[in-house]
Amino acid sequence: MDNRQIKPIQVGVVGLGLMGSSIVVSLLASGYPVIALAPVPGEKEKAAKHIGDLLRHANGAGILPKGISSCVDALKLVEDYQQLADCRVVLECVVENQEIKRRVYEQIADSVDNSAVIASNTSAIPISELQRLVPNPGRFLGIHWAEPAYMTRFLEVTCGQDTDLQVAEYIVSLGLRWGKEPTLLKKDIRGFITNRLMYAVYREALSLVEAGHTTLTDADKAFRYDAGAWVTLMGIFRRMSFMGLEDSLNTFKRLFSQLNNREDVPAIMQQLVANEAKGIHNRSGLYTYTEENAKKWEAAFAQFNRDIYELASRYNERQLPLTRKEHIL
Ligand SMILES: NC(=O)c1ccc[n+]([C@@H]2O[C@H](COP(=O)([O-])OP(=O)(O)OC[C@H]3O[C@@H](n4cnc5c(N)ncnc54)[C@H](O)[C@@H]3O)[C@@H](O)[C@H]2O)c1
Repeated sequence: MDNRQIKPIQVGVVGLGLMGSSIVVSLLASGYPVIALAPVPGEKEKAAKHIGDLLRHANGAGILPKGISSCVDALKLVEDYQQLADCRVVLECVVENQEIKRRVYEQIADSVDNSAVIASNTSAIPISELQRLVPNPGRFLGIHWAEPAYMTRFLEVTCGQDTDLQVAEYIVSLGLRWGKEPTLLKKDIRGFITNRLMYAVYREALSLVEAGHTTLTDADKAFRYDAGAWVTLMGIFRRMSFMGLEDSLNTFKRLFSQLNNREDVPAIMQQLVANEAKGIHNRSGLYTYTEENAKKWEAAFAQFNRDIYELASRYNERQLPLTRKEHIL
């Protein structure tokens, strides 16, 4: 069926911080009506302003086909959970704290129909654990977005042990209609897919820096100018078909035993966090920033998001089909 013929369902977003607001804008941009719930007293006004700023940014990037006012018409900002009653899918985006999430689920479940899907944007809490906190675990799963949600195609759908696979597949199809390139993780493994990939890289890079083999800046440079030169077009396995499989195999043989396999967290990270470094947000951390430099980086990142979104859409997977054989693994 043509996706455009399907009437958009009502979606709820609970928690309007960094990610929640950005997810609201992504849903509105794809034509979905949204009930956005501010769970903390006083957050509604702040969120309204923030979502307005993001809508202007999205509009400037040309990704609001119907313009800002139709998005505003499709948005209802609320504080009362009962207003979620008609939502078919509710996305929880509150702080990464299981007890807070539990209280939020209780209120969502009291307000929506038993057949509604409840999803968490958690980065690290196992979906199988969160699923125990809702009355209908079969209709609970992880929907993990990347920031800024309205300018990225990433969407990781994760099943917990009790998630109904048909519900997960429905969410994947919904993700396509939200303009994403969803992936489905049928088993709830710690860190899902992206975090496992990225944290393996972090462990290696931090260990190289800690051992004095390279600097942080050079590790960043190597990653940026190597992976950065192809990663928007292809993933790591597609890259291998261009590099040569035999070469890759030989490198695996030589390198796997040399890679870091530590379980402790490198001291450099522990010290920074103990000293309350928050990176660009408080201008201190692995890099230091002057006010002027931080503003330049923030502006560059906003512009880059627009550019890369546009670039990725020129090479999307409908033009470059994902033909593959999966019988080997
Ligand atoms: N920041 C990212 O890039 C990112 C990426 C992927 C997933 N996530 C996940 O998304 C979720 C939200 O992250 P964020 O970065 O938007 O956080 P945030 O701190 O910007 O916002 C968290 C929101 O939680 C809500 N909240 C705070 N205290 C609460 C309470 N006591 N009761 C109910 N609600 C409360 C508020 O609405 C607040 O705005 C987390 O689970 C996080 O792991 C974040």
